[in-house]
Amino acid sequence: MSRFYITTPIYYVNDKPHLGHAYTTLCADVLARWHRQQGDDVFFLTGTDEHGAKVEQSARAAGLDPLVFATQNAQRFEQTWRSLDIEYDYFLRTSQVEHEKVVQDLLQKIYDAGYIYSGEYEGWYCVGCERFLKEDELVQGLCPLHPNQKPVRQKERNYFFKLSAFRDKLLQAIEQGQYRIVPAGRQNEVVGKLKQGLDDISISRQSVEWGVKVPWDKSQTVYVWIDALINYYSATQFVPQARGFWPAQVHLLAKDILWFHAVIWEALLMAAGLPLPEVVATHGFFTIDGQKMSKSLGNAIDPAELVKEFGVDATRYLIMSQLSFVTDGDVSLTRFRERYESDLANGLGNTFSRVTNMVEKFGVDLSVESKYNLALQVKEALDDFLFDVALNEINKFIQTIDKSIENSKPWQMINSDRKKEVPGLIGNWVAALVEVAHQLKPFMPQTSQKMLSVLKAERITKTEPLFPRLNFNKQ
Ligand code: MSP
Repeated sequence: MSRFYITTPIYYVNDKPHLGHAYTTLCADVLARWHRQQGDDVFFLTGTDEHGAKVEQSARAAGLDPLVFATQNAQRFEQTWRSLDIEYDYFLRTSQVEHEKVVQDLLQKIYDAGYIYSGEYEGWYCVGCERFLKEDELVQGLCPLHPNQKPVRQKERNYFFKLSAFRDKLLQAIEQGQYRIVPAGRQNEVVGKLKQGLDDISISRQSVEWGVKVPWDKSQTVYVWIDALINYYSATQFVPQARGFWPAQVHLLAKDILWFHAVIWEALLMAAGLPLPEVVATHGFFTIDGQKMSKSLGNAIDPAELVKEFGVDATRYLIMSQLSFVTDGDVSLTRFRERYESDLANGLGNTFSRVTNMVEKFGVDLSVESKYNLALQVKEALDDFLFDVALNEINKFIQTIDKSIENSKPWQMINSDRKKEVPGLIGNWVAALVEVAHQLKPFMPQTSQKMLSVLKAERITKTEPLFPRLNFNKQ
């Protein structure tokens, strides 16, 4: 049995959960479920990032105390994850005192080790990103990710982390495979940027109230990103069932926050003398008409609405199959509807009905020995975080069942001298569908269970369609 600790980013509570957040969290859920199925000791962590200027400003704008505001929105994330059947082991909120204490202890350790000093910082701060942007990152004076929020010029006395001292160590750690960035193209990007050199970074704020106090200087607040990154470690320090789980096997995230996760986080861990995570797995963005989906752009799709329209498992399937982990992918409701029809109602659902119907009509011989290697293909795809490829393999397999039915035409065979072969053939298809159900389990847990309860019953009977046809035109 191996240990498998997987995390998602902790999401800002100024935003409602949207499809982008749901994608990362579903990827983590699929992997966590898959590893649990293999008998691994799994810990799956998600949560909310509640401190900092962005949340403070949104709370004030809503006329609420930041903690009240954060609590309301953290609940929305938890509700959405529940509606998507996401089985995390712990939901961490950075406003929890237990977390705050670990942040302070860890920073004190890094300070005592001599990696933190006091200095002055001046630069353009993007509240949307919660970070300083360099001049060459601005496009016509604006942040490319938050073009409708003007960056703020800030000059403050801050504490700085000697990130520059870790350049060679980080390069070496990546080269020696102490941690990996997936996909390889992103690792190359990080290595390339590291080679250009590293600047020290400011890790505290004077002008932000809402956050963790710097332990040796209470007039300063810990920079929200440092506070947030530490959540991955802090859970293993105060959540009883997470004890002993550090270091994480996988941090899942999108490319927007790769640098924090693949460079700053590892440097902080090195400074504190802690082991590094094994894999930083980075996916692309869901876009709508080519633009990143986000609250600030007002183009977000609410996953809860999809669940209402398609049901839980179909929504999980549609979200997971829509994006290839590596590249960006444009989404639209029309495309979701098309895929629902083609892959679920006409694909899996139809094949399942056909086979169970034939069992009722023509009988079945379940003693036939059938071996399939779909498990291996799914494993290989999941090892590389290629969720869409895994689903594609499953779909191709379903299509081969369908083709085999078409080619053998049991409804004709039954009236011929090959009549005796029919129950055996159907037995093969039942076994193939059992395999499909097993492989679909982490993606569509309820559907898998429904399929197995029919296929493994003493008497197989035809049932309600797995995916009812939805009349999209009427909506
Ligand atoms: N609070 C920080 C993360 C701190 S982790 C120590 C943050 N939060 S966020 O709410 O903005 O979430 C960013 C993450 O949400 C992305 O890395 C990705 O996992 C997910 N996504 C948000 N928008 C997305 C898309 N449009 N497409 C795909 N995933 C996206 O950054």
